[in-house]
Amino acid sequence: MDSSLDNFMCVALKLTEEAGKIIRERIWEVKQDVQTKSHIHDFVTKTDQEIEKLLITGLNSKFPSHKFIGEETTSAGVKPEFTDDPTWIIDPVDGTLNFVHGYPNVCVSIGLTINKEIVLGIIFVPISFMMFTAIKGRGAFLNGKPIHVSKVSDLKDALLSVEFSGAATYKERLSSHVTHLQTFLSQVHGMRSGGSAAFNLAMVALGGADCYFEAGIHIWDIAAGAIIIEEAGGVVLDPSGTALIPTYV
Ligand code: IPD
Repeated sequence: MDSSLDNFMCVALKLTEEAGKIIRERIWEVKQDVQTKSHIHDFVTKTDQEIEKLLITGLNSKFPSHKFIGEETTSAGVKPEFTDDPTWIIDPVDGTLNFVHGYPNVCVSIGLTINKEIVLGIIFVPISFMMFTAIKGRGAFLNGKPIHVSKVSDLKDALLSVEFSGAATYKERLSSHVTHLQTFLSQVHGMRSGGSAAFNLAMVALGGADCYFEAGIHIWDIAAGAIIIEEAGGVVLDPSGTALIPTYV
C-alpha cells in the first residue's frame, strides 16, 4: 500500500475543508465580483480564484515537485502540461453558477494523477458537509463510511442525472435541453440536474443517482468524480463507450 497517497490525501483534505469554509461563508452573500469567461453564461468569481490559489499554494508548499491543472488558472490563459508527474487537477468551485445564485450544490473537486492515472479524488459539498474520498484500490467513502453505486442495471429503472448545456445562445441551450429530454425522458424513472458535475458524479458513487450523462465536460470537472465512482464499483465511460482516459488538451 502506498503510504505517500495517505499523506497526499491528508494534506489535500485539510485544504479542502478550508476551501469549504470559505464557500459556506459566502454562498448566500450578494456577489459583487461575478465576471464572465468564455461566454455570457460562464461565470467566475473572486472566490473561485481565491480557493484555487489556496489549494495550489498549500499543496505546492508540501509537494514542490507536483504539477497543477486548475480550472481558473487555465481559464486565465495558462496552458498546463499534462505529464506523468503527480498532477493535481482542481476545480475550486464546481457549480459556479449555483454558487452565484446561492443554490447549494457547490463542490470543491480535487483529483490527483500519477503517470496520467487518477489515483486519488476528493469531492466536498461544504454546505451539506458531504466529503467524498477515494484512493485507487481502496474503495470510496462518504465522511469515512464506504459507499457503493446502485445495483440498477436497466435504464428503465434508473434515476438519470444530466447537465443541460449552459451555452451562450438560447438556440444552443434549447437544443441541448430538448435533445436530452427527447433522448432519455421516455426511458427512465426520472431525470435530475444538480448544476455541478462533481455533485452529480458524487451522487452516482453514492447510489443516489443510477447514472449521469454530460457532453462537453472538462477534466477538472470529472477527475475526482471518476475515481470516486470507480472505487464505488461503477464505471466512467467516454462517449465512444470506452474507459475514460484522463487527457488535457
Ligand atoms: C461546470 C458545472 C456544470 C457542468 C459544466 C461544468 P464550473 O463547472 O459542473 O454543472 O455542466 O460542464 O463546466 O464551471 O461550475 O466549475
